[in-house]
Amino acid sequence: MEKKAGLSIATRITRIEVQNLGKSMRDKSAAEILRWAIETYGERIALASSFGAEDVAIIDMMSKIDRDKTRVFTLDTGRLNQETYDVMDEIRKKYGILVDVYCPDHHELESMLRTHRMNLMYDSVENRKLCCEIRKVHPLDRALRNMSGWITGLRRQQTFTRSAIDKIEIDSIHNDIIKINPLADWDNDMVWSYIKQNDVPYNKLHDKGYPSIGCEPCTRAVEPNEDPRSGRWWWESSAHKECGLHWDPAKIK
Ligand code: ADX
Ligand code: SF4
Repeated sequence: MEKKAGLSIATRITRIEVQNLGKSMRDKSAAEILRWAIETYGERIALASSFGAEDVAIIDMMSKIDRDKTRVFTLDTGRLNQETYDVMDEIRKKYGILVDVYCPDHHELESMLRTHRMNLMYDSVENRKLCCEIRKVHPLDRALRNMSGWITGLRRQQTFTRSAIDKIEIDSIHNDIIKINPLADWDNDMVWSYIKQNDVPYNKLHDKGYPSIGCEPCTRAVEPNEDPRSGRWWWESSAHKECGLHWDPAKIK
């Protein structure tokens, strides 16, 4: 089996490998981690991008490391804001990268919409999760099939369910592939300094009070003193407000 940088190039990663990598990468910068990921996995690792602030900063870093090996995919739920589609196009134009767009399975979508109303997410947590499952989680499963790993813009400060994430993790939901969170220890100011200093295109909803952007029916602006995540699924009271993309029950105490 081909080996590079002390890591076997296989789809799965072992817990020992993750632990050792985690230790060696703990103090590395985001750019150093991304360089290592691209050199090690090439096109078998991709950034999952919603084109939020963290993701566009990562795209800028990856393009500067190796534009031709920069692989990005997005989950187009069909319910995104116009501003989100605008920034996708701006990013493609500026960096000249391809973006793999994953859409929901039309059979699943049509079946859901036959029995539920269009805005079913407001009716119950169960319905909201069904919509997220069909529009986001299943397309993510498809995007990660045959991949050795993925990169995300997750940060520990975003919400308490993310407060313990590591820069290098094992994704036990997706066949034990590697999951890399290069901005895990960044704060919001670091993200925005990077965007401004590097003139990175960003979603214009961020200028209208949206710190965190998901789908249009499920995201709203927040006041400057409010929790940045409070505009996501704002009508739900549960503290565990995640759509399932990053939900690993094994990690929740
Ligand atoms: S979510 O789970 O609550 O929707 P959030 O919006 O905070 O996630 O984004 C965290 C990270 O998840 C992003 O940085 C990105 O890596 C990934 N992500 C979220 N939404 C998408 C999407 N629609 N397509 C691809 N990746 C996404
Ligand atoms: Fe559906 Fe809202 Fe989830 Fe988007 S965030 S998939 S619209 S429930």
